[in-house]
Amino acid sequence: MNILDPSGMSPRQAYVIVCGNEKGGSGKTTTAMHLIIALLKAGYRVASIDLDSRQRSLTRYVENRLAWSRKRSMRIDMPSHAHVERAVGDSVAANENAELASFQEILQRVENTHDFIVVDTPGHDSYAMRLAHSMADTLVTPINDSFVDFDVLGHIDPETGEVTAISHYAAMVREARRHRRMVDDGLLDWVVVRNRLSSLTSRNNRNVADSLQELCMRLGCRLAEGISERVIFRELFPTGMSVLDDLNADGMGMGPTVSHLAARREIRTLVTALRLPIDEAGRRRAQARRVWLDNASRPIDGLDLLAD
Ligand SMILES: Nc1ncnc2c1ncn2[C@@H]1O[C@H](COP(=O)(O)OP(=O)(O)O)[C@@H](O)[C@H]1O
Ligand SMILES: [Mg+2]
Repeated sequence: MNILDPSGMSPRQAYVIVCGNEKGGSGKTTTAMHLIIALLKAGYRVASIDLDSRQRSLTRYVENRLAWSRKRSMRIDMPSHAHVERAVGDSVAANENAELASFQEILQRVENTHDFIVVDTPGHDSYAMRLAHSMADTLVTPINDSFVDFDVLGHIDPETGEVTAISHYAAMVREARRHRRMVDDGLLDWVVVRNRLSSLTSRNNRNVADSLQELCMRLGCRLAEGISERVIFRELFPTGMSVLDDLNADGMGMGPTVSHLAARREIRTLVTALRLPIDEAGRRRAQARRVWLDNASRPIDGLDLLAD
């Protein structure tokens, strides 16, 4: 794949995954971090970009991971991470332009040296946010499992459950898709994932699922299996770990609980559902790199000649 981005910059190689949704607290950052770790663990070179210059949650998540691993002197998979600098001038347009420039500068640094770029986005519209959406190969939109959050995609008639209008965000994605097709004929695969599913399957939940399915058909997105509400997702943030990490080996002193294993399964199911370009050749290359790195970090037998 070789596309020119809207700014006319150099061709890029990396596959771009964007986590987006105009609502805060829907699970973008948590999802982004888990996708990053999943791809790293598969041996891919991953660059992560935090577009949320205000909250910087993904940046803190990555920093926590680094601090946690350093304190325990353990080797850990880390992405090449960068965040967009927050512009704090008086003019909104100038700030947006500055953040866009910062984003483009980061993209230029990583687009030819990584297999995947994972972009975490803020819960509001901006130039940088639009650029991210128009260069995404896969857009992952986590939504909280309720009609309220569902509004981020469209409006539903409460009586009939029918879709009556599409939201500002869905219109923005449609525009991004149109733009992308014009630039390189590329297709954006939009995957919506219900997050924080309750273990109780209520009637309301079933209605949400049905309406969401209908809305997805209208918007041209796919609905992935959901992620359950689990305390472990909240607990892991300060350590920078993910449910894919071996928490025991990583010094947390925790054996995997049933909930942890179930969470891991859900994340793996999501990664499979995304149908990322993890082809056989790519998989072998990544595996070879992974083995090499593992061995490179291991002390070489017989080299402790100075020991008594
Ligand atoms: N499946 C989940 N179960 C429990 N807590 C979750 C889950 N997904 C996200 N959270 C928590 O919800 C909060 C918001 O999630 P976050 O990923 O930061 O959302 P966003 O980036 O969309 O604002 C965080 O405290 C996160 O730990
Ligand atoms: Mg976030």
